[in-house]
Amino acid sequence: MLDTVMIWIDKNSRRWLQDVQQWLSIPSISTDPNHVADMASAAQWAQHYLRSAGLHAQIIETPRHPCVWATTPPEMCPRGASHVVIYGHYDVQPPDPLEAWVSPPFSPTIRGGQIVARGASDDKGQTFCHLAALLAWREVAQEFPLRISVLLEGEEEIGSPNLRPVIEQLKPLLSDAAALIISDSSQFAPGIPAITSGLRGMVYAQLTLTGPSHDLHSGIYGGAVANPATALCQILGKLHDATGRVTIPGFYDDVDAVDAPTRADWAKLPFSPEAMARDIGVKQLNGEHGYTTLERRWCRPTLDVNGLTAGFQGNGAKTIIPGSAGAKVSMRLVPRQDPEKIAAALEPFLQSLLPDGIEMQLEILSAWPAVLTATDSPAISAAMRAIRTGLGNDPVIVREGGSIPVVNWFRQILGLETVLLGFGLPDDNLHAPNEKLDLDCFYGGIRTSAALLDELARQFS
Ligand code: BES
Ligand code: MN
Ligand code: MN
Repeated sequence: MLDTVMIWIDKNSRRWLQDVQQWLSIPSISTDPNHVADMASAAQWAQHYLRSAGLHAQIIETPRHPCVWATTPPEMCPRGASHVVIYGHYDVQPPDPLEAWVSPPFSPTIRGGQIVARGASDDKGQTFCHLAALLAWREVAQEFPLRISVLLEGEEEIGSPNLRPVIEQLKPLLSDAAALIISDSSQFAPGIPAITSGLRGMVYAQLTLTGPSHDLHSGIYGGAVANPATALCQILGKLHDATGRVTIPGFYDDVDAVDAPTRADWAKLPFSPEAMARDIGVKQLNGEHGYTTLERRWCRPTLDVNGLTAGFQGNGAKTIIPGSAGAKVSMRLVPRQDPEKIAAALEPFLQSLLPDGIEMQLEILSAWPAVLTATDSPAISAAMRAIRTGLGNDPVIVREGGSIPVVNWFRQILGLETVLLGFGLPDDNLHAPNEKLDLDCFYGGIRTSAALLDELARQFS
């Protein structure tokens, strides 16, 4: 039956493109209050699509953006069939800077064998691959090879603040899952699919320094009062040492060295730091001394300044000492680092660096741990076979530096491991202008998903 499903998928390639373009046209920007209505329509679009694929689909409201929950009707699944859950997120990052896009972010365009649009890869495009595979199974076979549930979220890009209660509410319906599948990561390189076995965790902090009660003339007052903007730069400059290590006391206490065989496996992957440098427009890569680029990205914790605000931002010169200065700082965590402990260590360390006359407020916006997932489970074996069928090559096992909060809730609340099976590529421009998904990846993703349902059904029957 899978063969017939695959033929039908290939025959409908134009349709998949048209359908995904509709979804990508909806500016589902979760962080932007001006797009609340678009969030609702993107959720409804998915709900209708899942219904057209024969699933029972409903909207689950949350305090902010809705989830979509869909299940295959019992009469369309083999009796006693195993249960597989697919998660995806339909929200996207803001598209700015708009002027850097070659075509408008919400007018999906096919150019050079790629779908170019915000969300093309992260994550509407990848999630759509599963929706299309469901539709194909239903059209061709009139039934599904196993029981399938789909959970779509609209708040992943803002840290999934309302997802935990939803998972808790759905726990009775989720906990019998034989496999949890997420396609929100990437292949290792063109022609080298990947299964991701680890994601980094996160502590995100917002730091505000305040000095004088209002902006001051820097000629009249300069030299006699601490400048919050200068203080902020000095403090941020002390958060790394000369070898690229983070200086927060205790930051590395719980960081394990990665075992030699794993490091050796990574060293064998066909990865070129030079090519990556070229891709991102730098002459040379840079990071913690003593580690390869893949190690720096996959198994070492980091601290990065994500945003800065202080003082005069307009054209030309304005001579002021700003009254306040702010920074957004994120730390990527690795396995066994405790986000609470790291967050707790940050505050006193920053306090100790404050000059006289400057006050600090620190707000922790998110905190969750890193995850490692199994690499040898039955679900992983099924995924490996499906990848070979759908994408034409065997996958490598990698880790990724990014984060997907729900993987933590699945583990903590359901005690279940997730299979991270991404269809995108490392140069998809996630969160950046001209986000894209290669058509090869898109069609290969649909085929992989169709094969995965078949492989999982065999594996768990
Ligand atoms: N899909 C990404 C995470 C990702 C990217 C995993 C590349 C593997 C490879 C996800 O949508 C994301 O951007 N996560 C955010 C966290 C969120 C709270 C903003 C991240 O990692 O910064
Ligand atoms: Mn994503
Ligand atoms: Mn993202």
